[in-house]
Amino acid sequence: MSPATADTPCRVHNTRMADVPVPDAGHSPTLPGMTETGSRTAVVTGAGSGIGRAVAVELLRAGWSVALAGRRPETLAATAELVPESACVAVRTDVSRPEDVTALFAAAVERFGRVDLLFNNAGTFGPGGVPVEELSYDAWRHVVDTNLNGAFLCAQAAFRQMKEQRPQGGRIINNGSISAHTPRPSSVAYTATKHALTGLTKSLSLDGRPYRIAVGQIDIGNAATDMTQRMQAGVMQANGSIAPEPVMDVADVARTVRHMAELPLEANVQFATVLATAMPYIGRG
Ligand SMILES: NC(=O)c1ccc[n+]([C@@H]2O[C@H](COP(=O)([O-])OP(=O)(O)OC[C@H]3O[C@@H](n4cnc5c(N)ncnc54)[C@H](OP(=O)(O)O)[C@@H]3O)[C@@H](O)[C@H]2O)c1
Repeated sequence: MSPATADTPCRVHNTRMADVPVPDAGHSPTLPGMTETGSRTAVVTGAGSGIGRAVAVELLRAGWSVALAGRRPETLAATAELVPESACVAVRTDVSRPEDVTALFAAAVERFGRVDLLFNNAGTFGPGGVPVEELSYDAWRHVVDTNLNGAFLCAQAAFRQMKEQRPQGGRIINNGSISAHTPRPSSVAYTATKHALTGLTKSLSLDGRPYRIAVGQIDIGNAATDMTQRMQAGVMQANGSIAPEPVMDVADVARTVRHMAELPLEANVQFATVLATAMPYIGRG
């Protein structure tokens, strides 16, 4: 992966910097569907596919300005094309590279003036179904670098910006998982990193209080995306059998994230669990 910090303007956006409303330093009343500052600017990682794309589209359609981040510019551009004329910027980013994350937030602030929301979503399942005793250290590190180190770097950059900007504050929503609660078979790297995200969420939530930074987490189960394609074909269950699992529409996740994002900063959904109703989880299977 080349150093990926290029600020790639969305092919479809034609909003100039001057057109983007920048909040004044004073207090603006909270309008329906707006953040407390009156400004709605977001960074969405993993915005080129699946849940990240659905959330980016949901926010753009609601009038948010969004910095779309991911490693593949072509998929970010395809996300932007779903909402023509929207205020977005695509920034090629590998979230596991500190210099990329610095460039991402610099591009978002240069374009939109501030960051009100980070949807910390980029992630990988890693090599599914590999028993722990056969998992290579490289595979383990790749999952940790993406899911945990990448989420930390993005959250840290957002925290710094939200602490410094005026009006102060903002919101971080980490994308955990049902695997932040309970594992699938042979998923040690994914499960360990998703459990760690819960710690990241709790710790940042506490540290953010003095600066009006709200931090929450969404724990999703079986939204239909590339990552969960194999669910419908059949995946290993805890008893070793292979069984197909129900999935849900990713748009239902996106609406939940938007609801969390648009609360006033005095209110926070600390943890939201949104899952395919009939998937194996509750009831020990
Ligand atoms: N789908 C579900 O049911 C479900 C359930 C629980 C949790 N989740 C979580 O939801 C998140 C999104 O998953 P998804 O289901 O939407 O799968 P997906 O379509 O595979 O999305 C993963 C996204 O992360 C990006 N990404 C991966 N590594 C990256 C890196 N190093 N730097 C920047 N971006 C990176 C990918 O874009 P590039 O390849 O272009 O970089 C891709 O857009 C993940 O954190 C996943 O753990 C999903």
